[in-house]
Amino acid sequence: MDAIELLKQQHREVEELFEKFERAGDDDAKMMELVTLLADNLAAHATIEEKIFYPSVYVGPVAEKLTHAVEEHLSAKRVIADLLEMDATDAQFKAKVMVLQELIEHHVKEEEKDLFVGVKKLMTKEELVVIGEQMEAMFSELIQTQPRLQVPNETDEAAPLT
Ligand SMILES: [Fe+2]
Repeated sequence: MDAIELLKQQHREVEELFEKFERAGDDDAKMMELVTLLADNLAAHATIEEKIFYPSVYVGPVAEKLTHAVEEHLSAKRVIADLLEMDATDAQFKAKVMVLQELIEHHVKEEEKDLFVGVKKLMTKEELVVIGEQMEAMFSELIQTQPRLQVPNETDEAAPLT
């Protein structure tokens, strides 16, 4: 799978988790389980972007879009770090999950409508497949290590791009 297909597939999976959260009603255990899944998936997704995808395309007109993207990642990580300290019974819990959902939806839209279009002009399909495979391998490893636990250590500043 090429890098862009992989990232889009992961975006759809995260959207599905947010939809499940909306349907969880007042089932606290279910909400906690879904937030844990969301936090792990978003953390691993952000890491493969920051460590492999973004640095691979940090040139020309795309570079500025990436400095914006890592700043949005930082905002999302701060909300995730807050959520990891909360309980589903907390009065602000659902509101905070909704803020996270809005941040992610906005970020995904910008990536898919703008960033990925710029990246496709920079890289061949073959190059995208090579980094896609690296990203998929890193994601599969990370997702087994409770990657959400790293998020609170990444809330000081945006991830470096070089
Ligand atoms: Fe991203």
